[in-house]
Amino acid sequence: MLAYYLFVLALILVLVPWLWRYKVRPYLAKKDMRQSLANVDQGSKVLNQVKQLELLYQRVFAEAISRLDRSRLGFNEDAFIYGEIDFLSFILILQKIEPKPNEIYYDLGSGSGKSVLAAALSCHFSKSCGIELLPGLVKLAHKQLERAKQLWPSADLSSIEFIQGDFLLLDFSDADVVFINATCLHYQTWQALTVKLASLKPGSRVITTTKKLLHQDFKLLYEGRELMSWGMNSVNIYVKIR
Ligand SMILES: C[S@@+](CC[C@H](N)C(=O)[O-])C[C@H]1O[C@@H](n2cnc3c(N)ncnc32)[C@H](O)[C@@H]1O
Repeated sequence: MLAYYLFVLALILVLVPWLWRYKVRPYLAKKDMRQSLANVDQGSKVLNQVKQLELLYQRVFAEAISRLDRSRLGFNEDAFIYGEIDFLSFILILQKIEPKPNEIYYDLGSGSGKSVLAAALSCHFSKSCGIELLPGLVKLAHKQLERAKQLWPSADLSSIEFIQGDFLLLDFSDADVVFINATCLHYQTWQALTVKLASLKPGSRVITTTKKLLHQDFKLLYEGRELMSWGMNSVNIYVKIR
């Protein structure tokens, strides 16, 4: 009998935090976000964009593709662990930086292309570009772009580009807005990336998850917890001041 009670207790101790983190908290966050949009100008437009994007990415198994690519290429590091944005949360994060028409957007480590498509659809970027190292994910992002063009013939998706390569080696100095889902990146990668980010033009904004951009040329604009595919995570927004 004691063993049974201990088993139930252990189950509760594991299950309750798991349910809170992966189900209840995201559910409450989504409810809050939707409510915050209910009385806002353009709120229904945003919700419609989110609906379209979620439909586009239904039954897309980016995590599995990332795993296959990593095992094929022998990338065993945690730095490549896969996770994604949540569309609604991300569009609201983008609104915080007040993107101007004709600015240029980059996602460094763009995975299946979710943020690039969301940025192109919800803002008037003149270029919305994803850089991703794993070829399988880049191929998937291109496929999703083609599907989006078929699904939404009237949407202007001509600003979208996906580039396969290492963001530490590629040039993104034309960026006005940079997103880095940086939670799993190694310290050395983050340091090298910080040096590259320091060459962005003044006024550029950088959005990071988890990692802080500790450089005298960047000022913190926003710090908060936002929804990602794996739950709530810290998000920081910086502006380049000189
Ligand atoms: C956490 S995922 C984020 C995917 C996407 N940005 C999103 O938020 O939906 C990080 C991605 O960065 C990629 N990545 C890691 N290091 C990279 C590098 N040095 N160059 C390009 N991509 C990299 C990984 O393969 C992975 O797909």
